[in-house]
Amino acid sequence: MDALFTQEEWQDVSDVTYRIKKVSELGDRARFLYTKFFEKFLLPEIRKISQQPEHGYHGIDHTEQVGLFGLDYVMSLNENPLPVLYAAALHDCARMGDKYSAEHGPNCEPIARAFLNTSKASLLSPDEKEMIIRSIVNHTSGLVAPDYIAACLWDADRTRVSWDCGYVEGFFNTERGKYVASLDEEGQQKYWNEMMTFLETNGLNSTPSEEVKQSFGYSPSMHKDFVQIYDALVELKDKAEMQEKKGGS
Ligand SMILES: [Fe+2]
Ligand SMILES: [Fe+2]
Repeated sequence: MDALFTQEEWQDVSDVTYRIKKVSELGDRARFLYTKFFEKFLLPEIRKISQQPEHGYHGIDHTEQVGLFGLDYVMSLNENPLPVLYAAALHDCARMGDKYSAEHGPNCEPIARAFLNTSKASLLSPDEKEMIIRSIVNHTSGLVAPDYIAACLWDADRTRVSWDCGYVEGFFNTERGKYVASLDEEGQQKYWNEMMTFLETNGLNSTPSEEVKQSFGYSPSMHKDFVQIYDALVELKDKAEMQEKKGGS
């Protein structure tokens, strides 16, 4: 990892990790630094252990998108980005296809836990590791996030579903996530083009950008499965609201 980062860059990561600095104090460097960490260090490591295909609606390129959205959302909260990047990198690591599957969150736990126990995750505290695992296990069904890691992961994972199937505010936890997820088609294009330009101009692409762009496109053949996931979430949300009302009366 040393070859990837300068001493100054490591100092910045370490200052945020140990709460000597807030990530906002790194200014514009923060986005570059954490995108580099995700694209050049984490994603190549995840490729070695994940069961996902490289491409497809839930391929590694989806994981890449979730990391990029997640970084945007966690920086808007001015929290340490590292745990969110690990959560994004690992959240679908046991997913082998695009079919609706409620079990893939829990199925990721052993793979994620093994990875978080290696030296590749030495910058994370034991508490952060447990929060990451919890956010991954519950990412398909969770609604009210218990902490900022889950909030950013869930919002990041649901942004594309929202762009494809329609925005439902109740599925989102962060203000930034709500804003990005509710962008209209023109806004979505603008947002994503800016993201791709940032990767390209800084030489940070992990995957060739054309492939990411292609895989990002809406695919009618997969729409059915996503409507199913979305329907399951709407049902869960309705149940939660009904229980809340019952509890309150
Ligand atoms: Fe997932
Ligand atoms: Fe996902």
